[in-house]
Amino acid sequence: MMSYNKKAEYIWMNGEFMPWEEAWVHSMSHGLHYGTAVFEGERAYGSKIFKSIEHSERFHRSAEMLDMTVDYSPQELHEIKMELLAKNGLTDAYIRPIAWRNVENLSVASHQCSVNVAIAAWKWGNYFGNVNVFESGLKLAWADWIRPSPEMAPVAAKASGLYIIGSLSKNKAEKAGFHDALMLDYRGYVAECTGANFFMVEGGKIHTPTADCFLNGITRRSVIEIARSKKIPVIERHIWPDEVNFADEVFITGTAVEVCPIGQIAERTFKVGEITTMIAAEYAAWVRR
Ligand SMILES: Cc1ncc(COP(=O)(O)O)c(C=O)c1O
Repeated sequence: MMSYNKKAEYIWMNGEFMPWEEAWVHSMSHGLHYGTAVFEGERAYGSKIFKSIEHSERFHRSAEMLDMTVDYSPQELHEIKMELLAKNGLTDAYIRPIAWRNVENLSVASHQCSVNVAIAAWKWGNYFGNVNVFESGLKLAWADWIRPSPEMAPVAAKASGLYIIGSLSKNKAEKAGFHDALMLDYRGYVAECTGANFFMVEGGKIHTPTADCFLNGITRRSVIEIARSKKIPVIERHIWPDEVNFADEVFITGTAVEVCPIGQIAERTFKVGEITTMIAAEYAAWVRR
């Protein structure tokens, strides 16, 4: 008996709304065998999807980077997402569009396979479960895996295959009692967490790694805008792992994690600081406006 872990009534797939338990993928799908799939992660607050069109545009760009075309425009995808929320009776939800290569050809080349598109939405509150992250912050472990260079993988795409190293890193971190893993890049600089971008505060200034080999998150860019509007300098630069020891505050950002303070990286502990708390509050207000 297959499990379908039902989280909502309906999923939209290839033009149709169907019951969650019927939205199956064929076992010979190219996307499953070779990772030829791209996805998005979005959130709706009070029935409004934060930066919906921006997410759908990134979905298109990710697909293009994998030589795939999504046959629904960003505006059409937006309308589908809104209808899906309404059909599922959801106002605050996580939304997961995905596009993947279908079954027509199982050679490594994918261009002969059609492209399937599905969108699911469900209630997903705190990404880290019941942890009150603002009490003492999340605990991060350093990951063993590193983010590859742009010559090794389509690093700017939100592509399923790129998540293998993130998944392995998060597994190891969780088994060791941490919430997530912090990854370095192929040069040894601090990169990002497994599903979120990295920020540190030092002497009233915010520093964040240059997004030249990982996803330049929509939340990351929103947070930079918030900080600059509050006259807090934001410096995008390459950061060595040792520099993290001198940070006054550390936080991570992403659609799923929102703005989360970090209380510990390996042995080093940090307090949940004022700048992180202010940025988190401003972000929470913005997404609900
Ligand atoms: C690997 C990775 N980095 C960063 C992010 C943050 O991106 P965004 O703020 O657009 O959700 C995500 C989440 O989608 C992610 O999976």
